[in-house]
Amino acid sequence: MAHTFVIFGASGDLTSRKLVPALYLLHRKRRLPPDTTVVGLARSAWTSASWRASLAESTAHWTGEQFARASWDEFAARLHYQRGDLQNADDFARLAALLSSLEPPGGSTRVYYLATLPSLYETTVAHLGAAGLAAEDSGPRRVVIEKPFGSDLATAHHLNAALHRVFREPQVYRIDHYLGKETVQNLLVLRFANTIFEPVWNRNYVDHVQITVAEEVAVGRRGALYDATGVLRDMFQNHLLQLMMTTAMEAPARFTADLVRDEKVKVLQAVRPFQGADFAANAVRGQYEGYTAEEGVRPGSQTATFAAIKLWVDNWRWQGVPFYLRSGKAMSCRTTQIVVQFRCPPHMLFDVGKRRTVEANRLVLQIQPAEGVQLHFQTKVPDAGMQLRMTDLDFRFRREFSGDIPDAYQRLLMDAAAGDASLFARSDEVELCWTIIDPLLAAWQGPVAPPLELYPPGQWGPEGSLDWMRTQGREWFDVCPVLH
Ligand code: BG6
Repeated sequence: MAHTFVIFGASGDLTSRKLVPALYLLHRKRRLPPDTTVVGLARSAWTSASWRASLAESTAHWTGEQFARASWDEFAARLHYQRGDLQNADDFARLAALLSSLEPPGGSTRVYYLATLPSLYETTVAHLGAAGLAAEDSGPRRVVIEKPFGSDLATAHHLNAALHRVFREPQVYRIDHYLGKETVQNLLVLRFANTIFEPVWNRNYVDHVQITVAEEVAVGRRGALYDATGVLRDMFQNHLLQLMMTTAMEAPARFTADLVRDEKVKVLQAVRPFQGADFAANAVRGQYEGYTAEEGVRPGSQTATFAAIKLWVDNWRWQGVPFYLRSGKAMSCRTTQIVVQFRCPPHMLFDVGKRRTVEANRLVLQIQPAEGVQLHFQTKVPDAGMQLRMTDLDFRFRREFSGDIPDAYQRLLMDAAAGDASLFARSDEVELCWTIIDPLLAAWQGPVAPPLELYPPGQWGPEGSLDWMRTQGREWFDVCPVLH
């Protein structure tokens, strides 16, 4: 069957930076179905020709050496533009007419991609419904929604209800681009296609888990938007919690969208709610120095650009094992990593000095940018008595496999077209994430908030974050990845 991607917000940054480059590279790799059409809709006064010309430039920029003029020209012939206003019902009737003129008589699988401002999601979906564009009489109809999915539980619930008035849940694909990253999918493979990790992946062997998404960049030109959002909404409600669910979930019976998401939802259901003193004791928040001078940021803003929180997963596998989640802007380096810190050996045979123990094993899952996995373990230093030293087994995707690691959007766009929602968030999952984040957001407005600590750009967040770990007898694994 033919495929049509309809991109709402066709003149926006996401379209030029991610969606079209991903579709183009899929075309280059011959992965797009041969009869794929891409229709863009936005308010800008463009024509198909000028839209293509502008996308040629941006795609060449974002795909670098992978861009080839001849294959772009071939691909560009699939691109069509319609000027339109998402608030205007008539423009959806015109869209319907354009789509039927472009699609074959046998119909087409359609993916509506909402790459618009979140404030337009509901209107767009309602107009799609009213124009008959959600009806599946001439092929499947799916809708892809970008983050943020609401700004709290109430708004997420409201948006889910609006979606469900037009689309059934299996037609809805809520994007979290972290789930499309190869290394995040590899976490499932590492855990469930090997036997050696699963037996130790629990409270008997694991001391704690650290999940860090550190960014070196500051807020840049997104100051106004970021200031109204903050790190908890921007990174924790979605990416950090998704990484945690993938680390903590049980093996689903089969790798199908609902069974995978059922297991992830169970993790969220087991997260212990914060109460009273937990709000201050189980979290650190920070803001990088100079943030309030960024363009668009309110003077004296209390928005956190860094947070670290400790969550407990109250189930048989994880009881008593803290999950530390941490993310921030303007940090030492860009790194996303999951560290599974194992327990110390129960009894030390070797003379290891006053500490009477050694650093314990650690499995480091490098999600980006040095994609790979490292297992740290103790080794005897040769010719030095029984002196021990931490060494590691180091697996890197780039050493092992040739070719570029594809951007998450390639996988996610193909999955949406194929009707596989395993790597997209379900309505209950998104709402449960908000039930974890909402109380923190509320507490951070009031007297139980942890202090907002300033940190100089280029560090691992505020000093208080290091002290906080030390008081728990633990340390952050703060190592910038080596990029080769
Ligand atoms: C987005 C956030 O969801 O993820 C941004 O809104 C953040 O603030 C980005 O920079 C990080 O994504 P990645 O893939 O570069 O780690």
